[in-house]
Amino acid sequence: MESTTLVLVKPDGVQKGIIGDIISRFERRGLKIIALKMLHLSRERAAIHYEEHQGKPFFDGLVDFITSGPIVAMVVKGNQAIKVVRTMMGTTNPVDALPGTIRGDYALTIGHNVIHGSDSELSAIREIKIYFDEKEINRLD
Ligand code: CMP
Repeated sequence: MESTTLVLVKPDGVQKGIIGDIISRFERRGLKIIALKMLHLSRERAAIHYEEHQGKPFFDGLVDFITSGPIVAMVVKGNQAIKVVRTMMGTTNPVDALPGTIRGDYALTIGHNVIHGSDSELSAIREIKIYFDEKEINRLD
């Protein structure tokens, strides 16, 4: 079943110069990029994105990090895109991520894990709206 998901290349991923590799991996897999932008998140918008983590010990560090430099946001579409993207990303904690996954190839610590992908249909719908207006998303095939 077709789904759409929000992917962020985090500041460490942009810094490492792996935007192109990440996009290539998705395109090679047959997923479509239907919206794409580079931006610098405000602390307010970061807090909205990560609202489920408010109050957790790592929340302030997470907001500091995600607002520390430019990020790339994209909407990725395809068969079971939410699940496929998460498998391609590897586990949240890169220590456990398999080689060949994005985090398994490029990340080593949970706070700096190079990429974010929505974890469910509901999260995807909510998160896409934080970054994109409806008119910025290419719905044509
Ligand atoms: P992400 O997929 O963007 O979703 C929430 C983020 O919080 C997660 O990736 C990690 O980067 C971060 N995170 C989750 N747990 C921890 C933790 N225990 N310590 C630091 N950062 C964390």
